[in-house]
Amino acid sequence: MPNIQIKTYQEYEEAYKRSIDDPEGFWSDIASTFTWRKKWNTTLEWNFEEPNIKWFKGGRLNITENCLDRHLKTRGNKLALIWEPNDPKERFVRYTYRELHEKVCQFANVLKKNGVKKGDRVCIYMPMIPELAFATLACARIGAIHSVIFAGFSAVAMSDRINDAQASIVLTSDGLNRGAKQIPVKRVVDEALEKCPSVNKVIVVERLGWAVNMVEGRDVWYHDEVQGVSKDCPAEEMDSEDMLFILYTSGSTGKPKGVVHTCGGYMVYAQYTFSNVFQVQENDIYWCTADIGWITGHTYLLYGPLLSGSTSLMFEGVPSYPDMGRFWQVVDKFGVNIFYTAPTAIRSLMGGDIDDVLSYSLDSLKVLGSVGEPINEEAWHWYHTHVGKERCPLVDTWWQTETGGIMISTIAGITPMKPSHAALPLPGIQPILVDTEGNEITENEVEGHLCMKFPWPGIIRTTYGDHERCRLSYFSTYKGLYFTGDGAKRDKDGLYRIIGRVDDVINVSGHRFGTAEIEDAINHNDHVVESAVVGYPHDVKGQGIYAFVICKEVPEREDYLRAEIIETVVEKIGKIAKPDKIQIVSGLPKTRSGKIMRRILRKVAEGDTSNLGDTSTLLDPDVVDEIKAGAL
Ligand code: WTA
Repeated sequence: MPNIQIKTYQEYEEAYKRSIDDPEGFWSDIASTFTWRKKWNTTLEWNFEEPNIKWFKGGRLNITENCLDRHLKTRGNKLALIWEPNDPKERFVRYTYRELHEKVCQFANVLKKNGVKKGDRVCIYMPMIPELAFATLACARIGAIHSVIFAGFSAVAMSDRINDAQASIVLTSDGLNRGAKQIPVKRVVDEALEKCPSVNKVIVVERLGWAVNMVEGRDVWYHDEVQGVSKDCPAEEMDSEDMLFILYTSGSTGKPKGVVHTCGGYMVYAQYTFSNVFQVQENDIYWCTADIGWITGHTYLLYGPLLSGSTSLMFEGVPSYPDMGRFWQVVDKFGVNIFYTAPTAIRSLMGGDIDDVLSYSLDSLKVLGSVGEPINEEAWHWYHTHVGKERCPLVDTWWQTETGGIMISTIAGITPMKPSHAALPLPGIQPILVDTEGNEITENEVEGHLCMKFPWPGIIRTTYGDHERCRLSYFSTYKGLYFTGDGAKRDKDGLYRIIGRVDDVINVSGHRFGTAEIEDAINHNDHVVESAVVGYPHDVKGQGIYAFVICKEVPEREDYLRAEIIETVVEKIGKIAKPDKIQIVSGLPKTRSGKIMRRILRKVAEGDTSNLGDTSTLLDPDVVDEIKAGAL
């Protein structure tokens, strides 16, 4: 671990310079610290036109050998995973590297026994229980491609993803705990599978001990399957560019797309960024609060920490249960040194009693992290002052599902830190700002669209089953560049501040939704003719969802209709995409060519209607007055 870790600002500058002058030499040296069955022939082959990006071509490896096997000699008895349940009264569970290795191997053997082979897509729809970690790594062990779906998505959302990936098997649980609630997970799976002919097997892990419907010939219990199964499973040898996983994420158009990451590059990038950004030391206890269903959980709960031989804490619960001090109680309980969470969690805790934080010591903390959305200055200061006691560097890490790992971030204690700024790019990352025509803006104290001009090992390779979609989404807006979809500022010292999306993507509590995706869901409601969705600033969630809806007839009770529309969205996507505000309108502001002027709707949603700009090109300018008058 230490040999890839930057220790001083000078080392950062040197590493950065080398990564630009000689990217292949730079990444090749880092990749050499991993275990490869066969070394690669070509470090990098790329063009952003197709795009075609290959890192460590010809290299052979298995990522789980790097996460587990290679640590057994030196760290076999070290804790790999600590699992803290939802209910503080339930006992936590710990796994050493040796034990985790056995659990993963056993799960892998269960998968094999149930017919899973290299290259098969495996859908994992499970709560934050240890088996979710075992299952994910078990797929990687045997070369199956995992597609983890956050267990808050609805049956419809799940079946869309399963069908897109043509998954043959689903790994799930009977139910899940979420604060005071218990949710019947298996029932959602059963509903989803009514529309998924590719799935012929379901393995169910028991969490709640609930009686669930088991379909004869399709569904089996994990605890039955694992009886007598070997704790050893040889790792499948993979090509560096073989797919490791698919993770679905929303874009500005169409259904969510399956972002594909491959074995070699993702591995190298996950560990390099984990080790550096958080400045992880051998005995640190590290806690990332993200769910494995999101990219942050993939890279910084699971792969990054295990690749580094670190101890990773996995938490089943929520920040507010049984009370608003739960996070801090867990920090003290395990002596957590590094804590990585989302601004939305911080903002919700800021609303609680300050004693919920101050009554814990938090002495063990050394580094704090933030991810998923811009952290506003107020939240930044609260987190830094009350949690970090002004003693811990706070790293604001900017990245995306598509980037595989952190791209722009303070390196804890080493590179500059500034409230609400992700700050400097990591070595190997070449961000640029462009204007709307795609011209590079080279000065400082500017704002523009954030792009990358050179590949890094963790970059998206394709969107599953539709390479053209990958090209169109990320590589076609600005020629020769990867376009992030984000707007950013660069201050006088060259530090980056991410402002937010410049496309039709809304970031709600750090979760991405395309406006089109939510509109599509709303339009499924029988009463709805058309809808337009925009984001607006929300105190806790960062952005809230504001829907303007045209109905077939004037509803008798608007509140009933709103409740019904929310129900439709919950059914099509999940609770996480519930609109916060629904305004029933008789028309939408459209141009003569029929395009909705979202700019106007955004202003209305923000409550700023003083200057709506030019509305003369609208088909029906009167509709704007009506919308303004009815704003919620
Ligand atoms: C936003 C999450 C500001 C951004 C890792 C990006 C951020 C999207 C930050 C990706 C940050 C993520 N500051 N904005 N530190 N981190 N974002 O794919 O808009 O779930 O494009 O990946 O979240 O979200 P995703």
